[in-house]
Amino acid sequence: MKDYFKVDEWKIIEEGFAPGYNKVAESVFSLGNGRMGGRANFEEAYSGDTLQGNYVAGVYYPDKTRVGWWKNGYPEYFAKVLNAANWIGIDVKIGDEQLDLAKCEIIDFRRELNMKDGYLKRDFKAKTESGKEVEVEATRFCSIADDEAGAIKYTISPMNFDGEITLTPFIDGDIVNKDSNYDEKFWDEVSNDIRNDRGYVQLRTKKTGFEVATAMKFTVLQGDKPVEFKSDSIQKEKYIAADIKVQARQGEVVTLLKYAANLSSQNYQSDELSAKALEMVERISQKGFDTMLAEQAAAWAEKWKHNDIVIEGDAAAQQGIRFNIFQLNQTYTGEDDRLNIGPKGFTGEKYGGSTYWDTEAYCVPFYLATAEPKVARNLLLYRYKQLGKAIDNAKLLGFKDGAALYPMVTMDGTECHNEWEITFEEIHRNGAIAYAIFNYTRYTGDETYLTDYGLEVLIAISRFWAQRITWSAERQLYVMLGVTGPNEYENNINNNWYTSTIATWCLKYTLQVIGKVKEANAAKYKDLVSKISFNEEVECEKFSDIINKMYYPNDDKLGIFLQQDGYMDKEQILVKDLPAADRPLVKNWSWDRILRSVFIKQADVLQGLYFFEDDYDLETIRRNYDFYEPRTVHESSLSPCVHSILACKLGDIDRAYEFYLRTSRLDIDDYNNDTDDGCHITSMAGTWMSVVEGFGGMRVKDGMLSFNPLLPHKWEAFSFQVGFRGALLQVIVSRKAVSIKNISGMGVTVKVNGTEYVVVSGAEACSVPH
Ligand code: BGC
Repeated sequence: MKDYFKVDEWKIIEEGFAPGYNKVAESVFSLGNGRMGGRANFEEAYSGDTLQGNYVAGVYYPDKTRVGWWKNGYPEYFAKVLNAANWIGIDVKIGDEQLDLAKCEIIDFRRELNMKDGYLKRDFKAKTESGKEVEVEATRFCSIADDEAGAIKYTISPMNFDGEITLTPFIDGDIVNKDSNYDEKFWDEVSNDIRNDRGYVQLRTKKTGFEVATAMKFTVLQGDKPVEFKSDSIQKEKYIAADIKVQARQGEVVTLLKYAANLSSQNYQSDELSAKALEMVERISQKGFDTMLAEQAAAWAEKWKHNDIVIEGDAAAQQGIRFNIFQLNQTYTGEDDRLNIGPKGFTGEKYGGSTYWDTEAYCVPFYLATAEPKVARNLLLYRYKQLGKAIDNAKLLGFKDGAALYPMVTMDGTECHNEWEITFEEIHRNGAIAYAIFNYTRYTGDETYLTDYGLEVLIAISRFWAQRITWSAERQLYVMLGVTGPNEYENNINNNWYTSTIATWCLKYTLQVIGKVKEANAAKYKDLVSKISFNEEVECEKFSDIINKMYYPNDDKLGIFLQQDGYMDKEQILVKDLPAADRPLVKNWSWDRILRSVFIKQADVLQGLYFFEDDYDLETIRRNYDFYEPRTVHESSLSPCVHSILACKLGDIDRAYEFYLRTSRLDIDDYNNDTDDGCHITSMAGTWMSVVEGFGGMRVKDGMLSFNPLLPHKWEAFSFQVGFRGALLQVIVSRKAVSIKNISGMGVTVKVNGTEYVVVSGAEACSVPH
């Protein structure tokens, strides 16, 4: 459903309630603070269609793999981010009728996500079956200042009656994951307790043994006076609640303030969890809701100061980019190197919480430019720490001698994707992990990372490639058989150009880094050689041989790289000729039909041209783009952003703009009809890239930032900030000029449209006519 939410530069607004769209809205209005988060479920009961979701970062469950036929090498389990205790719940009874928007007449309804200040507000007027009308306003947020806590202000006032209202704040730990493979419950109770205005539930995950204590404390006001109450406590397994009865008068506002905390055994001793959680709700309730909300607004202001992208003249585009930046910041803060960025963040279960190649290929550039270097470094270290498991994973598949295959999906380093064609074949992910090391070093200039950690990962990845290729006696070249490229609408193909290209790039880069590290720190290099039993002479020779004798499929007539062998045997039809009713193909065609078709899920050859653009001339990039894009259905959220960046490079500003809108408003407009499952968090970093690398034309070359900006016709101007090697720059692109302001204390040299400028620190600006 397009145009469902109102366009506003700082808010997402829903006016009127569409039950059929509720799950999409629950995803879009999700809240998080890097440690905890959840979907925009209602506080009060709702018997309509909803996907309940509250999540605690890093807490997962290894759900036993479910496949039709077991194959050797399959991962034992699929690690799932767990749906955790519901801390937002407040049941409401009016007399003896339960307030449930699925059963009431809704007179008015409005939901608003305030991205500037970081909270969600919902207000509605509803009439119960017996004709009682109430007005409700609920505001809640996951606090950034107290990042294990959240708070809710829930007000209700009778509009046409005097009478009893019962408010029942609760914590419910009796939760199931919708995507549980065997309909099992993943949590056991450790303990629970409730006394008058506070209580907790402590749960432990089966198998993984994570414990989470969820505590609440609440206060009630009638008008603006605190209500002295003695609540009736309810205690069941995994559940606590308290009934608070208030005699409400017509027009008078009754307010429940609910403070909650989620503390995990990742950060505390299990036996102190519940006490600490209770202490925390006590502390935040002393602060009070308004102070917490003010702190929240201040924390977001701080984030927006450097993260914001301002687009003038196009409110839909502005709303889109802010929504993406908002969700990225809600998902990952970079403070904890045990955490990563799940494709759905805290907005849903599917792919939820796990780490994919999305992090390295899409998210790292965003964090490099918008956060301290330690954030991107933490993302790299996450993989470094999992190197042992990547080596075990490769062993499981028959590789040896320290070859590493990083998982396609993981929580703790163990592969846990359940489809063989992805687990065994989508090996290009190894390349993205190496590319992120290159990207980090290129951007930050920090080469110590290579010596301390990077080279060890690169050698292990290169060892994998060296064993994964096959020598073809027929071709007298190396080939790469049986792979799945980024385009998952092809499986078990031979010589996927992207995979072969990134594999040889990894080998070249590893050789380069070996040279660098040897020179920079011979002693450390020696230690590494002995730690991993690296036979430099033999192994490097093998790497070079593969680099020199790799086979890549081409079509000389068309002057393009072939996605894989045999691609031209397919019936060559274009997306524009597909009936609209067939799309998305994944929902309308059999898998067999998809596999045999030319249609491409997401950038594949073009992903390679995006990564390695300097190796190809513009005409080569254009020919490939003109050939592949018309065959691409963009059914992965990761697709439009890469196409937007390439379209900018090729000067096609209209197509670039179209792709930009598609990536930035993907969830707001539910473009792929799948936002009900959750938002596409990792592709949101791609949206940022499509502004900064696409329209801004930002690149890092020879240790310097360069810009080649383009302005979409609809925009009057746009601006963004990037940090680079200690300097902080603001780039403003308008119809008249490109201006680079150095807002840091450090001078910096940049290139704009090919010319170098020294931009001194402070208010000085380099202004180039545009
Ligand atoms: C894409 C993958 C991606 C995954 C998670 C899939 O649909 O094809 O490239 O890693 O989603 O975002």
